Order: sequence, then C-alpha cells, then structure tokens
Amino acid sequence: MKGLISDLDILNGTEQEQEEVRVSIEEGNTGKKKLYIESYGCQMNFSDSEIVSSIMKEQGYTTTSSLEDADVTFLNTCSIREKAEQTVRNRLNHINAAKKRRPEMVIGVLGCMAERLKSKFLEEEKIVDLVVGPDAYRDLPNLLGEVESGQKAVNTFLSREETYADISPVRLNSNGVTAFISIMRGCDNMCSFCVVPFTRGRERSRDPFSIVKEAQDLFDKGFKEVTLLGQNVDSYKWSAEQNNKAKLEKSDIQEVINFANLLEMVAKVDPKLRVRFSTSHPKDITDEVLHTMKAHDNICKYIHLPVQSGNSRILDMMNRTYDRAWYINRVDKIKEILGEDCGLSSDMITGFCSETEEEHQDTLSLMRYVKYDLSYMFFYSERPGTLAEKKYEDDIPLDIKKRRLNEIIELQNECSRETNRRDVGKEFEVLIEGTSKKSEEQLFGRTTTNKVVIFDKGNHKKGEYVTVKINDSTTGTLFGTLIEN
Ligand code: SAH
Ligand code: SF4
Ligand code: F3S
Repeated sequence: MKGLISDLDILNGTEQEQEEVRVSIEEGNTGKKKLYIESYGCQMNFSDSEIVSSIMKEQGYTTTSSLEDADVTFLNTCSIREKAEQTVRNRLNHINAAKKRRPEMVIGVLGCMAERLKSKFLEEEKIVDLVVGPDAYRDLPNLLGEVESGQKAVNTFLSREETYADISPVRLNSNGVTAFISIMRGCDNMCSFCVVPFTRGRERSRDPFSIVKEAQDLFDKGFKEVTLLGQNVDSYKWSAEQNNKAKLEKSDIQEVINFANLLEMVAKVDPKLRVRFSTSHPKDITDEVLHTMKAHDNICKYIHLPVQSGNSRILDMMNRTYDRAWYINRVDKIKEILGEDCGLSSDMITGFCSETEEEHQDTLSLMRYVKYDLSYMFFYSERPGTLAEKKYEDDIPLDIKKRRLNEIIELQNECSRETNRRDVGKEFEVLIEGTSKKSEEQLFGRTTTNKVVIFDKGNHKKGEYVTVKINDSTTGTLFGTLIEN
C-alpha cells in the first residue's frame, strides 16, 4: 500500500515547490468572454487572483483553464527570487506564440513583478498590453478599456488603504473544504534581503468584521477551514478610531483589535470551522496569541515561524530584529503553552552575504534543536533595490550556496521523517480534503498539526471530520486507519 501512494508525499519545500503555478479553472461554456489566469508566488498572490477574477466577473468574464480559449490572459507574478522572475519571462515567450495566432488576445502582467518593473515591463516585453500592481486591481475595467482603444495601460499605484475588504473572491482551484482569507496587505518590516515591502507597499489591516463575515459565508457554503493570510499576521491591528465609519455603525466594539482578538472572533464563527494562519514573524508572535490558540480547539496547532538563519550576526544583517536566543525562547514558549506536538515549520536562506561555514552550522544546529515538521529552503538571491543589495556584497559563490542548501534540505528530511515517525500509534482528528490521487478507495486530509494523512475511505467523504489512528509514515505523509465512533 505504501509503495502505491508514496508519490503523493508532500516533501519539504525547495525552490521548485515554492514556485508553484496555479491556473484558473474552467467555469463552463457560457458564451461569455474568457479570462485565463496563471498565478505564481505565495498564497497572497493566489488569493489576489481570486479577487481579480471577481472584479473581472463583474465585467462579464468567466475563467477558463485553457490559454487557447482566452480573450484575456493574466500572469499574476512573483519577484521574490531571480528564478521566480525568470520563470515568468520564459512563460511570456511561450504565450507569445499564442498571441501570434490570435493577436486580439489581451496580455496582462499583474502582481509583484508588475509593481517592481512598472512601465519598464512594456519596453522589455513587447507582447504585454497591461501592467497592474497589487493595489490597483479595481482599476482593471478602465485599464482594459484603454487597451481596447489601442493603447498600452499601466497602473502600479500603491495604496495605504486598499484591502479589497468588500470584494467577495471567486474561489479558484477550490476543493470546497479549505479557503484563504487575506486579513492584511503589504509589509513594513524591511528585512534586508526582501523585495516584498517594495512590491506590496505599506502594511495595512483589513476590517475585522468583513473578515468574520467572509469566514461565516464560507462556512455557510460548506467550507470547513479558513487560513488567515498576511506577510506578518502578528502585527494585525485595527482600531475603531481610525475607521470612523465602522465605529458609528457598531458602537459596542472594542477600541483596538489585535491578531489574538481577530483569531478568537473567527474561531467563534463555528466550532466546526478550523482556523489556520500564515505567516507569523518571530519578533511579533505573542503569548496572548498562543493562549488564544490553546483556548480554542478549532484553531489549528500549527505555526509557520520562519527563522531564515540560526546565527545572530546574520539575523542582524538580515534586519530580522530578533536573534537566535529570542527565537529559541519563542519556540520554547510555543511548546510550553501548546505542547511538544504543536506543528512548526520554517523558511531558511543559505549563503546570505558573508555567511561563514560556522554561521551556516548554526542554522543546522538550530534546526536540530527545533525539529521542524517542514521547511521551505532557498539559497540567497540578491534582489534589486533591497537594503542588502545596497549595503552588502553577494559574495558567497553559487556552488557553496547550493551545497549549504543541500545540507539543510537533507537535515530537514531527517527531521520530518523523525517527527512523522513519532506520530505512529497516535490518533488524530482529520478534516477530509479529498480523494487520494493514487486510489479512489482512499481519502486524504490533514491533522490540526498540518500533517497529511491517507486512509481507506469507508463511507466517508470530503468535508467530514474523522478520527484516524496512524500506523505508518514517510517523510511527508502519515498513513492510518479510521476509528469509527
Ligand atoms: N513574510 C514572510 C516571508 C515571505 S517571502 C516572513 O517574513 O517570514 C517567503 C520566503 O522567501 C522568506 O521567508 C525567505 O525565506 C524567502 N526569501 C525572501 N527573499 C529572498 C531572497 N532574496 N533570496 C532567497 N530567499 C528569499
Ligand atoms: Fe519580506 Fe521580511 Fe516582510 Fe517577510 S517580514 S515579507 S521576509 S520584509
Ligand atoms: Fe512573491 Fe510577491 Fe508573494 S514577491 S512571494 S508574490 S508577495
């Protein structure tokens, strides 16, 4: 059995996996104009494509999964590493062939790369008609109008207010069970390696009542899990005073709502609605958040807490504003409050400017201490305009960056194997997300700690909660049998 389904294993994230592409779904042949969207990068981008689809739906577009059918093609792009941008450039070359066959097809570039390159994109890539940054999607109908009248169109204005709070996303690639909700946009952290503050603008938090409403609507439609998204969810902050309108409407609301308060509000939508969140920043995650997680069974016991490096000098150069000791203290607190079994994952960068062999060893030793369930691991890629590009030399040769990367990937695989092995013999509540790819007779779902579990289906189906006893494991997956209550 194990051999049959082993390729379903979700292995630790490497360069390739993080740069997943998502393609819009086929909404059926409605005779309407067709929109094809490919999305690159992080969950925020995937979530933004759902907002874009909603805006386009108002304009009479339905989504298609085929480039060949599209009247409008959008690439929602990522700038996080050089490779992510290269992937988009290669894809544009491919799309060029389709555009030659059908010159009337409109090609738009959205997202972070659009924001970074602005109108330069139009000069560099002649097939592009439209360049739209992450805060300008409401302007898409006007911009498409400009393109229709024969001009190229650009809007890369970054806003201090836009959160798209009132737009109900069209759920693309949905399994009908789990969904993402954006709770904030932008980032004010200025980690020295990172392009996000430049491509996404200033940090702003969305109206909490619109978030709770979106969660409630999803639950009413049968969804059982929401993931609250932001670059740094722990700095979520919304104040009634700054949002006068809401204050007038809801006179009894708390003055300031922080992330712990928001988590609780969403958890209270229904005990059968699971709540996850990503990403937590080690400098901001509070004990209050951990206690809120503990108080609600439906807040999943899993935290993505990217460390980036295990060495304090490198962390300082990265401008992460915490050091190794601070990070270890946070991990200890998580285990103290939520227990040893709380799921933990990380992001790591190898070969940052001037990183020595000893400093790289500190990352390995930190990984051994924490024993992450999963990590997304990258070698450092210098990004134009960032603090690190201006201040430091990108001086670690590529072969050394890659060798260090391989070492952390290998260690992470060992840790994942070990933490999964520790789950054998235990029972978990699993939310079923769908049928196993390899066998119609098996289902897969996740534990509260975010581990994937595969088991024989019995008479269950997706969207249900079941209890599964784990009897086998690999690096990426748990296998179990149903415990019928
Ligand atoms: N907001 C999240 C990270 C978002 S970007 C946080 O602060 O943790 C996702 C990950 O990409 C980062 O955690 C980092 O590990 C990686 N990354 C960002 N910039 C990078 C760069 N220039 N080179 C290599 N990896 C990078
Ligand atoms: Fe980038 Fe740092 Fe903001 Fe994360 S917290 S998005 S790594 S600047
Ligand atoms: Fe990429 Fe932008 Fe996300 S740079 S990782 S798509 S915020």
